[in-house]
Amino acid sequence: MDQFIIQGGRRLRGEVAVSGAKNAALPIMAACLLADGPSKLTGLPDVADVKTLSSLLGELGVKADHHDDTVELEVAGENDSHARYDLVCTMRASICVLGPLLAKRGYARVAMPGGCAIGSRPIDIHLRGLEALGAQIDLKSGDVVAKAKRLKGAEIFLGGPFGSTVTGTANIMMAATLAEGTTVIESAACEPGVQDLADFLNKMGAKITGAGSPRITIEGVENLHGTTHQIIPDRIEAGTFMVASAITNGEVKLSQVRLDHMMAVVDKLRQIGVIIEKDNGGAVISSRRRISATDVTTQPYPGFPTDLQAQLMTLLCLAGGNSVITEKIYPDRFLHVSELARMGANIRKEGPTAIITGVKRLVGAPVMAGDLRASAALVLAGLAAEGTTTISRVYHIDRGYEHIETKLAALGADIKRVNE
Ligand code: EPU
Repeated sequence: MDQFIIQGGRRLRGEVAVSGAKNAALPIMAACLLADGPSKLTGLPDVADVKTLSSLLGELGVKADHHDDTVELEVAGENDSHARYDLVCTMRASICVLGPLLAKRGYARVAMPGGCAIGSRPIDIHLRGLEALGAQIDLKSGDVVAKAKRLKGAEIFLGGPFGSTVTGTANIMMAATLAEGTTVIESAACEPGVQDLADFLNKMGAKITGAGSPRITIEGVENLHGTTHQIIPDRIEAGTFMVASAITNGEVKLSQVRLDHMMAVVDKLRQIGVIIEKDNGGAVISSRRRISATDVTTQPYPGFPTDLQAQLMTLLCLAGGNSVITEKIYPDRFLHVSELARMGANIRKEGPTAIITGVKRLVGAPVMAGDLRASAALVLAGLAAEGTTTISRVYHIDRGYEHIETKLAALGADIKRVNE
């Protein structure tokens, strides 16, 4: 297993290109199951989750031809519609194949993803949505088995106890493209990835309006064709690099960034003293004074994203004063707290809330990555800390960040990947 070894205290400077968004790429790749003919995707991030989904699609009869950040995907055979547990359990987003398989082939068998490090992550809303479209759903040996001759348009409410569901909206939207009649999704997720997926599906011949708002209308069509599409930039990777620049008092230019997809993040970072200036289609991030404390609550888009909660917490560990972070999407997503404490952070957790008392410095320590975004938080802490930080289990970070150590090293960080 690989580790990162970081010597902290280097100011980051230079320019870094933001990669394509993992959470847009995954459902878009799954949507290729719906098409007759090949699709070409560019801007695909080189991350482990994309490789996992590629393998899963391969088992489902999709031929994938990868070149750099481009992939051509084409369904070569429709005989196997079973997404097996060995792959699904390594990546929850595998559930995105359920809607397209069912809509296109009339049958899908997908292993239930189970829980994960950031808490229990049910798929009840996905299943309710597919049932509303007329699917018959059973559970067999831990797999969801869904059947329908042809799905039928319906009015579907996708809200849940923690807001809408991102991959649930993607699943129902994809399934509804080939349904008979019109589907209206109420309380749809508004994340940029959902909008990007709708753009892709519309290029394939779907008739979707309203994506990006809480009400999406889908008029079913008979079939979809292949197309080409550029994946949007990753707002979570961009936010992580913004924090990296701020936490090292650096000056980093992000190219290929969509600030309009991250208004809540930009607003919060500016409030606490980070300078973010638009620059020629990119943005320059710097900080010239100690960060101030703040309160933040994670929310569905366009609110502050849960996927940047851990990274912001690391920054607030060094702020002047007390900060409060409340996690409203995944109340148990605090794996980073005890590891940050090992580096000298002062954090008290009370239920879904963390109270962070800013300290003057963090100190390097051996720490363990527990999930994707918690690992990113530890990398950020390591960049700012005095001395050496060793982060083990970095396979978590490889799931969603494209060569993060190479990008950081190019900005002047002292970070190395070694085999344990
Ligand atoms: N939920 C339910 N029932 C469902 C579905 C969701 O109760 O059927 C709950 C969840 O337990 C959670 C909330 O609703 O409390 C939101 O979950 P959602 O379904 O939106 O999450 P997801 O679609 O499984 C995506 C991202 C996550 C990101 C969340 C929230 C992808 C592939 N994954 O997950 O990304 O945290 O939305 O924004 O898009 C990450 O990249 O690190 C990551 C975890």
